[in-house]
Amino acid sequence: MALNPYEIAKDFPILSRTIRDGKKLIYLDSGATSQKPNVVIDAESNFYRFHNAAAHRGAHQLAEEATDALEGARAIVATFLNAEIEEIVFTKSATESLNLLSYAMGNAESGNRFHLTAGDSIVVSEMEHHANLIPWQQLAARTGATLKWFEVTPEGRLDLSSIDSVIDSSTKVVAITHQSNVLGTINPLEEIVKRAHNVGAVVVLDACQSVPHMKVDVKSLGADFITFSGHKTVGPTGIGILWGRAVLLSELPPFLTGGSMIENVTMTSATWAPAPRKFEAGVPNMAQAVGLGAALTYLSNIGMESIHAHEVSLAKLLLDELAHIDDVKVVGPLDMELRGGTVSFTVGEIHPHDLGQYLDSQGIAVRTGHHCAWPLTRKLGVPATTRASLYLYNTQDDIQALVTGIRDAQKYFA
Ligand code: ALA
Repeated sequence: MALNPYEIAKDFPILSRTIRDGKKLIYLDSGATSQKPNVVIDAESNFYRFHNAAAHRGAHQLAEEATDALEGARAIVATFLNAEIEEIVFTKSATESLNLLSYAMGNAESGNRFHLTAGDSIVVSEMEHHANLIPWQQLAARTGATLKWFEVTPEGRLDLSSIDSVIDSSTKVVAITHQSNVLGTINPLEEIVKRAHNVGAVVVLDACQSVPHMKVDVKSLGADFITFSGHKTVGPTGIGILWGRAVLLSELPPFLTGGSMIENVTMTSATWAPAPRKFEAGVPNMAQAVGLGAALTYLSNIGMESIHAHEVSLAKLLLDELAHIDDVKVVGPLDMELRGGTVSFTVGEIHPHDLGQYLDSQGIAVRTGHHCAWPLTRKLGVPATTRASLYLYNTQDDIQALVTGIRDAQKYFA
């Protein structure tokens, strides 16, 4: 069923505030971070108000309630992804999830399937966010493995024509974004997953820009690990998710060590608790996990299919409008089958930072720059872009305001 963004916006208190001398806020930067509905703000603050204690520690009622709240949130995440509960690892962010994976693989000893040496390769792509590039660069540097990558075509798609030479028998890990945070491109996973699995590699998916915006079912997707962050999913900051297949999490060594991730400890050694606790050293970000649980429940009640359809229809409207403005160049695919609701563009000679500042003066929040994907903007020959990233609370009026803002900026900078 089509969603009503005007009704949805009422759930998000920040969207009713004004900025820049009384202008209505037009928030088009959800790719950077999403706004939060009251149910999430309440869930997080009520945890502190009524249930705060250290989960999985302590024999008192509050500790029991905190544990139930944390584990309840884990169950919600599992249902949201169609995963098993023990496959959900809480981290502090998607960036930490990706670092967890790369450092844990770096800790793997000879004989472990994640052990990497010279002669092995790790595959990424030119459209990765720095968070899904630098940890793999670093792992390659630490282990002697080679970093390889898929190139990006001028239309902003992965060039899979070279798939058989990029993913070969040396490949141990393929780490790819599901949806580009710059181009909006949704990558064709089936072919990549099939090739990776044929050569015995694991597939790590950076799903930061897909899980908040479309139905992601880990059982049908085929990837082996998925990461996303709470704050882009109408949830709190300070909470991220790593999903991994149970059999792989059980073989993966830990990243951080310390309290609660152990099975047994002596003065000279320790053994590990089973996943997910093996990866959750220290008191977890409980209130944030609870807030994320409320966020995913909120999104599920609206329906991920409706959210995706809404964003695609707004993105199509925006692309149609941009096509009618002189000197606007969209960076990324125009085919709606291949993209989500993130639209990057340049406007003639106006520097994106100037455009962003002008739009801000009109109450319109966009992101400008290289969007933490510097190799991509370099490859596409643009120093920076202006990016509008849409979400469930955006309306056709927001799109019209952006279009008017761009036209007015052209006059202003002429
Ligand atoms: N990764 C976030 C973005 O694309 C911050 O804006």
